[in-house]
Amino acid sequence: MTDGPSVRRARIAGSGSALPVRRVSNAELAETVDTSDEWIVERTGIRFRHIAGEGETTATLATDAARRALEAAGIAADQVDLIVLATATPDQTFPATATKVQAALGVTDCIAFDVQAVCSGFLYALSVADSMIRGGSAKTALVIGAETFSRILDWEDRGTCVLFGDGAGAVVLAVEDAQPSAQPRGILSVSLHADGRHNGLLYVDGGPSTTGTVGKLRMKGPEVFKHAVTNLASVMHEVLDRAGLEIADVDWIVPHQANRRILDATARKLGLAKERVIVTVDIHANTSAASVPLAFDVAVRDGRIKPGDLVVFEAMGGGFTWGAAAIRL
Ligand code: COA
Repeated sequence: MTDGPSVRRARIAGSGSALPVRRVSNAELAETVDTSDEWIVERTGIRFRHIAGEGETTATLATDAARRALEAAGIAADQVDLIVLATATPDQTFPATATKVQAALGVTDCIAFDVQAVCSGFLYALSVADSMIRGGSAKTALVIGAETFSRILDWEDRGTCVLFGDGAGAVVLAVEDAQPSAQPRGILSVSLHADGRHNGLLYVDGGPSTTGTVGKLRMKGPEVFKHAVTNLASVMHEVLDRAGLEIADVDWIVPHQANRRILDATARKLGLAKERVIVTVDIHANTSAASVPLAFDVAVRDGRIKPGDLVVFEAMGGGFTWGAAAIRL
């Protein structure tokens, strides 16, 4: 240790996740949708998704995930001074779902708000919380991705309804002031992007200020696919460059879980072994903003991701928005 100015960073102190009780297989979907288990597995890698039932909402799933993350971190809810919740499927247009989670956790005074960047929402939320911690306006943050996409799917559109599921994931960020070191811990770099020219490729055809209805998800799947691989490979290079790291330094990629073929193509483009990629799309399908923290929590709890590992999160979603974060645990 050398004496000198310390560096303030946010580190992940714990994670948690939650899924609706009901798990739906491809075969079960094929009873009501013109599709087959074979098509879905071959084109997407998806086998199951969880679908929210009565009484299960984005806020209830988010609260369960947040409780588990706090427990894993050994941090009491009243120590939380910031809640940033990423969702495109809030319980209501307002108030922010983050404030519902706050109330459910029994916290009566902290900063709480939602961010909306669809499937990249968790990366955006993580970046906001990281900036606020480094800037000194918060010390302990809950960053949550939570969705109930089943409620905005057109169940007659087989091109989209088979692809998504519901769920929530959360991490607790804690402030750390440390001496500069060769292998610093915490969030090392974040890169975010948006390009609104592509609004029309993935969107919901409703909203409070337009139709006054909630609307349903619409997607030009093959076009989204093409952009995804290019954008994700490029933002991962960028985030590693910013942290002075290389692909060879990465222990785990935790990607947004949209489609197995996108995960494989991105890993190939980066020259990264498939074994380094955390995959949960087979059991969760695409849970939008929940997908990265949900996959992260699965891999932490099953012992793959360990303290000291270098992990890269990445995601892309409607907008388009995309981003990545490099984190030393
Ligand atoms: N079951 C059976 N057949 C289906 C089907 C389903 N669920 N959905 C589409 N098809 C059919 C189509 O009707 C089409 O039939 P046709 O050739 O007779 O017209 C055929 O399968 C191929 O459709 P296409 O959309 O070209 O398939 P694809 O190989 O591009 O796969 C996606 C479709 C959606 C799986 C793929 O494009 C994808 O994953 N895109 C990215 C989506 C994504 O990740 N979005 C979220 C980003 S956050």
